[in-house]
Amino acid sequence: MSQLFRKKTVESILAESSKSQTSLHKTLGVRDLTGFGIAAIVGAGIFSTIGRASYEGGPAVVFLFLFTAIACAFTAFAYAEFASLVPVSGSAYTYSYVAFGELFAWVIGWALIMEYAIGNIVLAISWSDYFTTLLAGMGMHLPEWMTMDYFTAKAGFETITNQLAKGQTLDQLATSNFAQEIPKYLAFKNAPQIGFNLVVDLPALMITFLITALVYRGINETRKASNAMVVLKIAVVLLVIIVGAFYVNPDNWNPFAPNGISGVLAGVSSVFFAYIGFDAISTTAEECKNPKRDLPRGIFLSIIICTVLYILIALVITGIVHYSELNVGDPLAYVFDKVEDLRWLSGVVAISAVIAMASVFIVFQIGQPRIWMTMSRDGLLPKRFSRVHPKFKTPSFATIFTGFVVGFPILFTDLQLMVDACSIGTLFAFVLVCAAVIRMDGNPNAIRGSFKTPFVDAKIVMPLITVALVVLCFTTLKDDTKAFFGNAPQPMPVETFVSSLTTKELKDSYTTLSALTGGEINHLDDYLARLTPEEYKTTLQQLPVYEDKKMEKGWDVFKHKIPLYIFMVIYFGMIIRSFFKRTSFIPLAGMLCCFYMMAQLGLKNWFIFLIWLLIGLVVYFIYGYRHSKLKYKI
Ligand code: ALA
Repeated sequence: MSQLFRKKTVESILAESSKSQTSLHKTLGVRDLTGFGIAAIVGAGIFSTIGRASYEGGPAVVFLFLFTAIACAFTAFAYAEFASLVPVSGSAYTYSYVAFGELFAWVIGWALIMEYAIGNIVLAISWSDYFTTLLAGMGMHLPEWMTMDYFTAKAGFETITNQLAKGQTLDQLATSNFAQEIPKYLAFKNAPQIGFNLVVDLPALMITFLITALVYRGINETRKASNAMVVLKIAVVLLVIIVGAFYVNPDNWNPFAPNGISGVLAGVSSVFFAYIGFDAISTTAEECKNPKRDLPRGIFLSIIICTVLYILIALVITGIVHYSELNVGDPLAYVFDKVEDLRWLSGVVAISAVIAMASVFIVFQIGQPRIWMTMSRDGLLPKRFSRVHPKFKTPSFATIFTGFVVGFPILFTDLQLMVDACSIGTLFAFVLVCAAVIRMDGNPNAIRGSFKTPFVDAKIVMPLITVALVVLCFTTLKDDTKAFFGNAPQPMPVETFVSSLTTKELKDSYTTLSALTGGEINHLDDYLARLTPEEYKTTLQQLPVYEDKKMEKGWDVFKHKIPLYIFMVIYFGMIIRSFFKRTSFIPLAGMLCCFYMMAQLGLKNWFIFLIWLLIGLVVYFIYGYRHSKLKYKI
């Protein structure tokens, strides 16, 4: 049993690293690291997923950006502390090896694949979307079957085929809510036949191949490319903020939080995704000139800069157009396209989005192989993962393998699922890194790095915060609190609701809605899915449908709250701990904020994540446990 929790010591990690890795080039300084941080942070999140988050939360989404930034900053202290203590490539994986032992380290390493490799799948797909639009803007149209994955195309094909069978024509559908399904239909229909319909996201594969090749070629070349991209993307983001500020109409900020707190929180995975990346800086520790001093500085600087940019961008876009228009995949380009004087900016934004996402891709594509390299050095993965290229000094096999791990799922993956998976995996890693600092902090014999998180006693601060939160819950948030603990019925998910309707209820619903909206509604599910949570609730009440079908009750409501109840148990458990053991507030706040965000990510994502962890454990027991370098050394 104790074999499972065998730990590495900081001394042994540093000794191994200096012995085996003198071969990596040490070239990075604070500016490069901050550049890397920004390169890793500003990407698909701010150019794409911010749209959906603003649509759901309204302008109040800036509070979510602020909250997430605070959570990330708390966590950054933990990363900085560990990076200054153990400046080697493995990031959170290495830190938990020191604090918690091998099994946890493996689990973290496994979760980090969700962050880096799955994050890159999101980036490759989003990059491809922007790139295709950009090409189209220049008059070059790629055939649809080259721009998406097989299953997306197939689903669209089936939807449209069904509609055609009902007597609709393509022209009619082009002006209905089904318009966005038509390119998918065409992609599947016009795809070359090679025993199956060949639908493949070619730009996404191409960017994966190109960046893997760049990263394989070497860190120095990568750094130059990455720094150049960062300068360009910050310049464009600033341009957007400054020019956009002149077109803000403050009336658009009213209502500020149209869907209340739940609307704002619905954007957690999208907003958090926009911040992921600052931690990737720590994976380049072995390539830094002075990691102990420069890593913490690089991490903090990049978070601060990005937070300021994000909040300003969110205010500008929700100020230029009404939040309800922002449910689009390219919100920044969309907003500027709406203002006649600013159309030219829309093209600039699209180009910079392509560049921004490519630079995030580079950093993640550097991070993933380095984590594998470290795990392999520890014996938890086969030796070839730590092979360093004799000339380029990069982890050669691990880099190529990463290319395949990212490239293969692109053929058949769902974007939102990947955003959620990436966020939950990363949050989990953050929780454990913060927990590791709390644990090390309580150990007077632990060695210290050059950067130490300022100690603020949790047993004084946490009770004060808790009282403030309780007061908030029973005053301003009284109704939400009552609904939560009273397990109040909630609106049925759209799909479940629509599929439960009888033919008569469906027909009556169409009639009612057409009368209410003054226009003809053709597709109930599509119409309802586009409403905000508040609008959906009100609309449901007006439909002539049996009440039980409209609302979820009992266990169906309760089960979605399980993650939040787990959060509460941990929250109060940690407060109790702080009375018995020295507990540092900053890492504790980081841990709790990240866990809270995890709890907001929905049961489905928790299941996916748990299955992923189980697979990881199986792999560990089949390989890592038996080949670990720490075997019998405890
Ligand atoms: N933060 C990175 C992005 O938004 C992952 O693309």
